[in-house]
Amino acid sequence: MTIHETIKEVQEQFKDVLKNARDPLMLEEVKNTFLGRKGKIAGFFSMIGEVPPDTRKEVGKMLNELKRSLNEQLELRYAEFQSEKKQKERVDYTLPGYVVHKGSRHPLTQAVDDMLSIFKRLGFDIAYGPEVETDWFNFESLNFPPNHPARDMQDTFYTEGGGLLRTHTSPVQTRYMAIHEPPVRIVAPGRVYRNEAISARSYCLFHQIEGLYIDTDISFADLKGTIELFCRMYYGKDVKIKFRTSYFPFTEPSAEIDVSCFLCKGKGCRVCKNTGWLEIMGCGMVDPNVLKVINYDTEKYTGYAFGLGVERMVMMRLGINDIRILFENDVEFLRQF
Ligand code: PHE
Repeated sequence: MTIHETIKEVQEQFKDVLKNARDPLMLEEVKNTFLGRKGKIAGFFSMIGEVPPDTRKEVGKMLNELKRSLNEQLELRYAEFQSEKKQKERVDYTLPGYVVHKGSRHPLTQAVDDMLSIFKRLGFDIAYGPEVETDWFNFESLNFPPNHPARDMQDTFYTEGGGLLRTHTSPVQTRYMAIHEPPVRIVAPGRVYRNEAISARSYCLFHQIEGLYIDTDISFADLKGTIELFCRMYYGKDVKIKFRTSYFPFTEPSAEIDVSCFLCKGKGCRVCKNTGWLEIMGCGMVDPNVLKVINYDTEKYTGYAFGLGVERMVMMRLGINDIRILFENDVEFLRQF
């Protein structure tokens, strides 16, 4: 094989491997095999002594030229990799950005927080109780005797272990009093559950805020004053309040409270069913039987309790006529708040 043929063959080989190099790392390998210190070209240079002396100069020139040409091709390939990489990294600043939706508090959470902060300003502490209750706390301790028809007022979900899902937040009253001495002044927010047919007006779960104030010399006038103040602070000072007599086993006397409809200002509309009034809570003076259960001195202490329904208030405020929308977590609905 003449020197020309050898050079040609090396060039062909080089072209081949260069074409197959898929990344800069493979390129590095190619460079080593051909142009490295122990590479093919270096090998040729070391054999130059074996060439007849009169052609040595020419062969040397040819090898130098080969080396230069291979180097050049390598450089070009490197440059190609570089620009491909840049191409991939390029950002098009004219494209529209991604929309990041901020989360927000659920309207029910917002309402509970607003109401609690009003009660805190009025001097109430916040207390919590479990959602899975015992019959004793949910009914018995609250003066519902066994088989008393008043239990039917609240359709109860029972658990397998003999417990139940609390039907109201009132068990927090006895739970709290059982471990605190009077004076007691608390509000207790939370979920309650009732096994009712689901409709636009009732759902299997909803929220209540329970209120309880026990001290010496607490009267119905204190209850009325507090509720009036709360309603003014929550709905605005023009709101009208009405107490209707009612019945609960754990309060005596008992009342239900209506407020003038927020939407029509008492004129009558779809939300208030044309009555101009909306029922928002039950309340009354705590029955001495309840205080006896937790060993409070009924000669010394009296108090009031109330339980308000949060969903009612929120639906009224937002003009919503189907309670279920508050539990569906439809983002299109929630995004409005
Ligand atoms: N627990 C009653 C209910 O859910 C409401 C209530 C609470 C009434 C406290 C009087 C006093 O219907």
